[in-house]
Amino acid sequence: MEAGERSGMRLLLLISCLPLLACPEKAREPLPPIADVCSRPKRSTPDFAADVAPLLGRHCTTCHRAGGIGPFALESSTAAATFATAIKASVCARHMPPWPPHRDCNQFTHDRSLSDDELLTLRDWVDDGAKVPATPMSLSATAPTSGPRADAVLTLPAPYVPVTSPDDYRCFVFDLPFDDERFITGFGVRPDRRASVHHVVVFKVSADRAQPMVEAQAASTDGPGYPCFGGPSPAVKGAKVTAKGLPSMVGIWAPGVEGVDFPAGTGIRLPPGSKLVAQVHYNVQTPNPEADRSSITLELEPTVTREAFMIPFGNPSWVQSGTMTIPARARDTAHFFRLSASTLTNRASKNVLSASEPVELLGQMLHMHTRGSWASFSVERASESVCALNIPAWDFHWQGMYFFEKPIVVQPSDEFRIECHFDNSGGDEALTGEKAPTTRCAWASRT
Ligand code: HEC
Repeated sequence: MEAGERSGMRLLLLISCLPLLACPEKAREPLPPIADVCSRPKRSTPDFAADVAPLLGRHCTTCHRAGGIGPFALESSTAAATFATAIKASVCARHMPPWPPHRDCNQFTHDRSLSDDELLTLRDWVDDGAKVPATPMSLSATAPTSGPRADAVLTLPAPYVPVTSPDDYRCFVFDLPFDDERFITGFGVRPDRRASVHHVVVFKVSADRAQPMVEAQAASTDGPGYPCFGGPSPAVKGAKVTAKGLPSMVGIWAPGVEGVDFPAGTGIRLPPGSKLVAQVHYNVQTPNPEADRSSITLELEPTVTREAFMIPFGNPSWVQSGTMTIPARARDTAHFFRLSASTLTNRASKNVLSASEPVELLGQMLHMHTRGSWASFSVERASESVCALNIPAWDFHWQGMYFFEKPIVVQPSDEFRIECHFDNSGGDEALTGEKAPTTRCAWASRT
């Protein structure tokens, strides 16, 4: 039977780490680094207009443009020549374009990395003297050809000026402009201040659970929204957070992503009366940041073929009992865990996903904080370990939502396995999930 013919529900997304129960297994080795193609000899003499400009336009100017999030614009042949050496260094190191997943683990839709061939074209152009046409030419970003519709646009209630620097985590509560049930089938963010809006995570919250968040927003004296970190719960001294269970994420946006279309026919249910909470991470590099008024856009459908779930896979005991320990000055600490897939999906979907039928795993994200070094998520079965997502060099600033080229069909007897590594070599203090939120890789289970 083809995966697409299955009548079972789809499982959208799994996140993060679960606890180490009495598990005798060992931490795994990282995947071998991707081959350094730049050590290969020069192979061509690329022409700027024909070969290089289209690559920069497609892969770089989406961010490296005036007002974009890249630190400099690459919109002209002159700029390309000026930054040629840095361009070669960044692409050869595979630092640019930012694309954290290890390509030997799995293939993803919207992959923005360069193929070896594209990478070598840029390298050869630089090695050939970074020649550009005598008459400067402009490189325009290739506009995204498709993307989710904006059936609802939720804009910050008032302009917000980030109050802490360099990082300000701020949550905003939104009422939905409709009363009936809808499904989110696509999601986007229109950052107002592209230079400071670093990433946005959106959670759905039922009206009663939203109460502490609504109160925190109302009580805030320094503009709209309220401070929060990791999830939608207010990080306000004295705030009474009564919300229990896992916050339910509906979308994440990071720079470079114009919008995310959920896989065809699937959507996340928004029960009547839901509210959305958007956590915006502002990264402020200037002393007087400008006020931001970003918007979230939702593509909505009244019904979908298959309901999808974004299921946090987290370790309640790390978070609630502080059982994740990362010793002081330790270069590599691993925490890993496995759990029956059907137990998790059945429970997290409140029985909508049957525990005795296969589900499709459509996509994945991983989350750690700043001490994370690498992480992987796999589906384990008797015969094999299926690599779903591997982030070989964790960068807190480049997190993403990755949909698989081919959904992974998860059988009821399969297990999910997560492994997270932390580097605390620069830290003089041991960290625990409880005391050091920046070390947690299970943020989705926090509220
Ligand atoms: C998704 C947005 C995005 C895309 C796409 C992107 N960049 Fe960047 N680039 C950045 C940001 C942001 C920085 C600042 C450093 C950071 O955050 O890692 C940066 C930094 C750089 C730097 C400074 C040195 C370094 O490595 O940090 C160079 C050079 C660079 N980019 C070149 C490129 C080239 C060439 C491409 C296309 C092949 C590209 N970038 C694609 C966002 C992007």
